Amino acid sequence: MKTPSLPPTTHNPVKYTGPSAAEVLAQRQQFLNPGIFLYYEAPIMLVEGKMQYVWDEQGKRYLDGLGGIVTISVGHCHPQVVAVANQQNETLQHSTTLYLHPNVGAYAEKLASKLPGELKVCYFVNSGSEANDLALLLARAHTGNYDVIALRNGYHGGNASGMAVTGQSTWKYNVPHSFGVHHALAPYPYRGPYGYDDAAAGRKYADDVKSLIDYATSGKVAAFIAESIQGVGGFVEFPQGYLQHTYEHIRAAGGVCIADEVQTGFGRTGTHFWGFEAQGVMPDIVTLAKGIGNGCPLAAVVTTAKIAQSLLGKVHFNTFGGNPVVTAMGRAVLEVIEREGLQTNSLKLGAYLKAGLKRLQAKHSIVGDVRGQGLLLGVEMVKDRTTKEPAPAECAAVLESARELGLLLGKGGLWGQTIRLAPPMCITPADADFIIEVFGAVFEKL
Ligand SMILES: Cc1ncc(COP(=O)(O)O)c(C=O)c1O
Repeated sequence: MKTPSLPPTTHNPVKYTGPSAAEVLAQRQQFLNPGIFLYYEAPIMLVEGKMQYVWDEQGKRYLDGLGGIVTISVGHCHPQVVAVANQQNETLQHSTTLYLHPNVGAYAEKLASKLPGELKVCYFVNSGSEANDLALLLARAHTGNYDVIALRNGYHGGNASGMAVTGQSTWKYNVPHSFGVHHALAPYPYRGPYGYDDAAAGRKYADDVKSLIDYATSGKVAAFIAESIQGVGGFVEFPQGYLQHTYEHIRAAGGVCIADEVQTGFGRTGTHFWGFEAQGVMPDIVTLAKGIGNGCPLAAVVTTAKIAQSLLGKVHFNTFGGNPVVTAMGRAVLEVIEREGLQTNSLKLGAYLKAGLKRLQAKHSIVGDVRGQGLLLGVEMVKDRTTKEPAPAECAAVLESARELGLLLGKGGLWGQTIRLAPPMCITPADADFIIEVFGAVFEKL
């Protein structure tokens, strides 16, 4: 088998002359908090990015198959996004929502135009964790109820309320912030009790939400929160009907439904602009981050005018939320997605990649499951297809070998057993071929 080679690029990276990776690592170990972790046995240092590619300090190029954890939506340093950021940085970097500035309103109008139904009122914050915190506050204020239902294997952020709704039995935290939060069964057809072959799986998983409402709460809930495809949990897609049945149970108990679109939004899933649309549901509150800003600290909560009324009279103030620079960038991101047809590209190349990965699954028993939509694809690795014993060491080995060949990948799942592929939405057919060739080569090597 010939060694896969990256498609050519016309971009010439600037020669890096800064501190070495070893020096940067030593500085990080001395001065940064011990909770951060690194991928790869020999940590990688990235110093430049252009569209779907990144370069390390030695000038080696990689295809960024993880997109900065699903954050680079339209491409690293996309020229239009950079141009509006530069122009705004030179004009006025910061004002405050106490004064008028045209960018924030123009962006809110554009963002609202992309959301369906009554989802037209925007709040701007700086991160996905903050967005989910605000969404929970809105839900509790609006309903007057306290209990929240979230999912095991979910991830919603690293602040107190984000950790509380994150499936604590699965993710790293076992935090005391989760009072009033109940975790329902993850609708995870590959591992859960109701599999891909069960046509009623969506309803059955939703029944678990209903039983939590009945037996773990007073019968009244404030909210249900879920990602539309679980991201950190390993790109777990829910069976059809799951959100529809769950939303019915939640609304019958007086609650509102929150869709966390931090990883699934902005056309990445290909068939729809928002992940929840694939399940045919209409959330009451949507949270957005990551790809919304293509790498800048922009996040949002979008809800209905009625729900937003619940916080009227209670000041919403966020120093950097909706500042002129990030809102200019957010608007440019939406324009680029439209102009460059990136949702269609995600659909087309996502289907192509998934088919390629499925072919490899047929050849390699270590691949237990291939799933996901558009450019959000998961490859779950198992030591044994019958027992489904997770294969985290093999998953880590795939990451190492792919890196050597010039492809950066992510991993997820409870045991780190699922490879996550979520490149910038601007990848080309030649990039997709390269990705499939790399997977083929690394599975062969395993
Ligand atoms: C689905 C989801 N929600 C929320 C968050 C939290 O976002 P942030 O890290 O910007 O606070 C993340 C981060 O990975 C995420 O994947």
